[in-house]
Amino acid sequence: MKHVFPTYTRIPIDLVQGKGTVVTAETGQEYLDFTSGIAVCNLGHCPENITNAIQNQLSRIWHTSNLYESALQDHVAELIVGAEDRLVFFCNSGTEANEAALKLARKHTGKEKIITFEKSFHGRTFGSMSATAQAKIHQGFGGLVPGFTYVPFNDIAAFRTAIDENTAAVMLEIIQGEGGVIPANAAWLLEVQQLCRKAGALLIIDEVQTGLGRTGSIYSYQHIGLDPDIFTLAKGLGNGLPIGAMVGKSELSSAFGPGSHGSTFGGNKIALAAAKEVLETIKQPAFLEEVQAKADYFRDILETKCAHLPNVTSIRGEGFLIGIEVGCRADLLVSDLMKQGLLILTAGPNVLRILPPLTVSYAEMNEAADILKTVLENQLIGSEMG
Ligand SMILES: Cc1ncc(COP(=O)(O)O)c(C=O)c1O
Repeated sequence: MKHVFPTYTRIPIDLVQGKGTVVTAETGQEYLDFTSGIAVCNLGHCPENITNAIQNQLSRIWHTSNLYESALQDHVAELIVGAEDRLVFFCNSGTEANEAALKLARKHTGKEKIITFEKSFHGRTFGSMSATAQAKIHQGFGGLVPGFTYVPFNDIAAFRTAIDENTAAVMLEIIQGEGGVIPANAAWLLEVQQLCRKAGALLIIDEVQTGLGRTGSIYSYQHIGLDPDIFTLAKGLGNGLPIGAMVGKSELSSAFGPGSHGSTFGGNKIALAAAKEVLETIKQPAFLEEVQAKADYFRDILETKCAHLPNVTSIRGEGFLIGIEVGCRADLLVSDLMKQGLLILTAGPNVLRILPPLTVSYAEMNEAADILKTVLENQLIGSEMG
């Protein structure tokens, strides 16, 4: 690509069509997409109900300013919050949702200090990049937003030392996705929440990658029984159309009054038409039951076929957010898997990250597990870490 900033290391295929789990490159080559566009196309590529909803909205009106009422925004917000006493701010991406969360937390508490965790990933704008505790993401960009403190993940002693009455908020992922598919410990999370309450700090959960059915429940904090003050969504919310949401308890509303924050495109009607369909689909109890059953099945076959292989150090994650830690370069494995017709991701140098659409079929899971087994068995020579 000659005319685009080289901010990504791009894999040399151009995907021009997709249906369900299958994507087709411009060469005509088909692949099983176990990336879902990085946890975005959770209901597969071009699902009929979402395509129809978008087309229907396209023929009516595309965009109206946030200076006007929007029944569609209110309806989608209601689908997001369910029976809980929460409010939604719509934006266009995960980084923007997190930016809104950080701003709301500071404004509501009147405090500045924000605690985040090593290996976290929260986005690329100055605020969300400053929240991201990874030196490689900060490199070269000069001074970060002041007030962030980074603490080791899953370490309660370190957290206890860090949190104090000056802390505005604590932001975390239930499973660190980009950081290597690292699940938070449930007991640690509950204690973090308790210490937040004691210190008068808000608990912000970044559900951008884990949310919307990806880990088997609508939001992954529900597995643990947490009650975050704020959580953030993006990725799967529009199944590929750009939309993000920051969801906070209603008691925070006075800090986000008129003029406090905004977005021209946030709550765009086309993106919302998609989000409405996504939410109505995943909120059907039978849908999530099936996701959980399929995810359990996939985990079992991965354990059976791959866990014993010499290259495999561990298999971890929850639902359809799965990491396989390997003793060799994960990027080389990804390239070999692609040659066999399977697209998956990495999360750091030695973790394969597997994110199939939640609508994946049993036959597709079997096929993917067989390809993974074959490639993991054969990728020993020439791919050692180094
Ligand atoms: C947990 C988490 N938060 C935030 C982001 C940033 O989202 P976006 O790329 O939509 O800005 C990501 C993206 O990978 C993410 O995984």
